Amino acid sequence: MAEQLNTIELMETCNAVRRLKHDPVPQELLERVVYAATRAPSPGNSQGWDFVIVRDSALKKKIRDLIAPPIEAMFATVPRDSKMSRMLDDAKYLVQSLHEVPALIFVCGPVCYPPQAPQEAFVWSALYPATQNLLVAARSLGLGTTMTTFQMVAEKEIRELLGIPQADQVRRDGADRMARPSLRAREAQAAAERASLG
Ligand SMILES: Cc1cc2nc3c(=O)[nH]c(=O)nc-3n(C[C@H](O)[C@H](O)[C@H](O)COP(=O)(O)O)c2cc1C
Repeated sequence: MAEQLNTIELMETCNAVRRLKHDPVPQELLERVVYAATRAPSPGNSQGWDFVIVRDSALKKKIRDLIAPPIEAMFATVPRDSKMSRMLDDAKYLVQSLHEVPALIFVCGPVCYPPQAPQEAFVWSALYPATQNLLVAARSLGLGTTMTTFQMVAEKEIRELLGIPQADQVRRDGADRMARPSLRAREAQAAAERASLG
């Protein structure tokens, strides 16, 4: 565990970890890091994020098989004396071993802000802070992570596989989501209901 580190130290040491142990990570810990992600700022408190945790070995293998071949081909074009060689070797190892890592967490989001004219740029403005929170929270729990974008090579297929709506569908649905109560509002309502029952 890395709990003896203070917040600054956690941030300082929150490096990409690409050679991960295969030991299972309890669902409770995964949910804690996702919860920490949802404490991130978002434009207008829109909280336009969804998290898909994949632990199933067969699914992870399918995702690996979709991503690894094109990424390996792409890496093969990078000169071997490149300063990036070591990182690319580790990234290649990660992509080849994706089915063996304990969990993949997909951070997704609808195009939902501003509600009157949703723009894609605002999706990223919510997802990146949430992802950074997730990485630091994982580090604080002694879990290694790497933020990746190499899955974009098979984004359409991965969306299909995991039942994540395609991007154009998300864009249409995004504005509807803004009408829903925020997570904090839902939590407050649930607490009020519990109090009235007790
Ligand atoms: C937007 C973004 C995309 C990234 N995509 C990948 C990726 O596809 N594969 C990967 O192995 N690392 C990826 N990384 C991790 C970076 O390579 C890493 O943060 C950077 O090299 C610094 O390394 P360090 O964390 O070990 O200091 C990504 C990081 C960011 C912020």
